[in-house]
Amino acid sequence: MKENRFNAGVKSAVQTADNYIAENLSAVHSTHRHTFHAMPPIGWMNDPNGFHYAFGKYHLFYQFYPYGAKWGAMHWGHYTTQDFIHWRLEPTALAPDGEFDRDGCYSGTAIIKDGKLYLMYTSVLADKQTQSLAVSSDGIRFEKLGEVIGSNQLPKGALRTEFRDPKVFSRNGTYYSLMGSRTMNDEGQILLYRSPDLMNWEFVSAVRRDKLTTRGIYECPDFFTLDGTDVMFASPQGYETKEWRYENMHSSIYATGKMDVEKGSFESVYEDEIDGGFDFYAPQTLQSPDGRTIMIAWMQMWSRRMPTELHGWAGSMILPRELSIKEGKLYQNPVRELEDYRWNEVKYEHIPLKEKTVLAGVAGKKIDLCVSFDLGTAKKVGVKLFASGSKFAKVYFDRERDLVVFDRSDMGIEIFHDAKEKDAAIRPVKVNTQSGRLDMRILLDVISCEVFLNGGERAMTGNVYSGGSDIAFFAEGGTAEIIKLEKYDIIN
Ligand code: FRU
Repeated sequence: MKENRFNAGVKSAVQTADNYIAENLSAVHSTHRHTFHAMPPIGWMNDPNGFHYAFGKYHLFYQFYPYGAKWGAMHWGHYTTQDFIHWRLEPTALAPDGEFDRDGCYSGTAIIKDGKLYLMYTSVLADKQTQSLAVSSDGIRFEKLGEVIGSNQLPKGALRTEFRDPKVFSRNGTYYSLMGSRTMNDEGQILLYRSPDLMNWEFVSAVRRDKLTTRGIYECPDFFTLDGTDVMFASPQGYETKEWRYENMHSSIYATGKMDVEKGSFESVYEDEIDGGFDFYAPQTLQSPDGRTIMIAWMQMWSRRMPTELHGWAGSMILPRELSIKEGKLYQNPVRELEDYRWNEVKYEHIPLKEKTVLAGVAGKKIDLCVSFDLGTAKKVGVKLFASGSKFAKVYFDRERDLVVFDRSDMGIEIFHDAKEKDAAIRPVKVNTQSGRLDMRILLDVISCEVFLNGGERAMTGNVYSGGSDIAFFAEGGTAEIIKLEKYDIIN
């Protein structure tokens, strides 16, 4: 790597991090480590960054603090993968040591230009957040190019302290970037900038501005076009609960509609929460070479107790999901690559359910479980997971509330939550059950549980620490049956 005035010292800060990782890896406890989800080798992980296909592989960068299982001065860690199942640890990509990013290399995205991989990220210096670039010609070693959008390019009324998370994309030969921002009047907004070359940027407009981000900004915008529909993502801080939606302290939302980059407007047609579980934040998407839009997200939540902190690591990523749009709504399903690692198939059909139904061969905590329920007349129908004695989590249909509920209140430990959050133990979502049938696909990986309802109509993600591997189905207060079930062990 060529030294220049911005990266003087970069080599050493990145190397210091990588040396620390190599020397301390053995101190990380293996008990709760996932087997096919991305997680930090050691230390802390939050948002996915720069999720992109380049140089013949997928790249996942992430907010990383190697020196403790707590948020700290942000680095960009780096994994590459071919299948979203095996994650190859690469050298740390960015460390906070420039004269403009000394206090952190915050979230951002990646783009290919002229055969090089560019990372656009938020550079933090004291209370100032600006946007910077780094470039690589091999996708592994990055050279910082310095600040490209400074505080002097903020629109009137925008705070320089809350200006971050560039999502860079190109349209018709022009580069655009969306950024989260806050105004002096406590409004959250998403700003659009444009550039002919990634280096020189001009402000276009605020594509969204409102007071719904009651505790900050719209973090981590994302944008893509899928089946002719423009989709914008954002992670609003302190978004208010609406009925059963947005019960976490911070939420991740999508809006479908039309982006007009010339005018600088996004006309929103439909909006909803992306994932109705506990642990899902800051999603990003990439386009795969075979034309899929694939999403990844942090599988944790701010202001929560993270039990793995005591094991030397904290935070992980969801298994990436393939996105599609049906009738204007977002559908999500696990990447199809997972199917190459499904073994030991167990199948059942037409099993009437009792208050406790255990099926031979249906157990485990690294599994892919697909089950279709006939909801019959029962008041509650569902499944207990990660069960061990009196500890478990359950996912079930609640007829009275007409909701599907993910309940981890019996997992044996309490996840403390922010005082403004109702709890961190029970989350509901609504799905269509008019036909009397409910399909669940559940992926378990040691401590993570990702639930996909009705072919991806809704998803719910949460970590569960009860530690058991028993599985039991149940129907309470009436009849119900399993129409069919398939269970696979995931072996990778
Ligand atoms: C979202 C976020 C981003 C920021 C990063 C810092 O989780 O707060 O807005 O860039 O994390 O680690």
